[in-house]
Amino acid sequence: MVSAPIYVFDAYGTLFDVHAAASEHRVEIGEVWERLSLTWRQKHLEYSWVHAMTGRMVPFWTLTQRSLDFAIASVGGVPDGVREKLLGAYRQMAVFPEVVDVLARLRASGARLAILSNGDPDMLADAIASTKLGGIFDAVISVRDAGIFKPDMSVYRLVTDKFGCAPREVTFQSSNRWDVAGAKAFGFETVWVNRSGAPDEYPDMMPDRVGRDLSVLLPLA
Ligand code: LAC
Repeated sequence: MVSAPIYVFDAYGTLFDVHAAASEHRVEIGEVWERLSLTWRQKHLEYSWVHAMTGRMVPFWTLTQRSLDFAIASVGGVPDGVREKLLGAYRQMAVFPEVVDVLARLRASGARLAILSNGDPDMLADAIASTKLGGIFDAVISVRDAGIFKPDMSVYRLVTDKFGCAPREVTFQSSNRWDVAGAKAFGFETVWVNRSGAPDEYPDMMPDRVGRDLSVLLPLA
């Protein structure tokens, strides 16, 4: 018997629009909102890599706050109350427009679906609860169980352990090119969701497919 395909998704930037939080409060932040948002995201990732490589793990939520504080300082501050609003918005993040439909179709085709994210379990639960994705996933996997952030190989191994499968049986989707590189190095089939039209990189860890959004996964074979 051929087992159902397994599609695993990165969360932030792939399913959830990480820039929606700052966009929602762009009027209060002012014209620097986009710079603030990009700095927030970039520092968040940088902190995750430094904490992983130094073995000094802290919750992803702690890094969410520290990176936001850096981003706020780098644009010269935001009005009172906006920091708290941005953190609140991060917990209830909007999904990209095609996400619910594509995942519902994959699910209807019999595929198994999962999230693999740096996010803490409670962050992921809050994010999913604010969307129409409740109940669609067979597994919501946080790196917490590996004790290190992506792209450590032990993080991707959480998926094969969970499903009792080989890496090549998993199709992994991420908008983060560095995450695709990690997943490819582990042996997953990879799809780079290049939402921003970024140039390609990591030539020795190439994605198997590239699309502008998750509809690249449709129509199903
Ligand atoms: C995640 C980050 C890397 O969800 O986007 O794991």
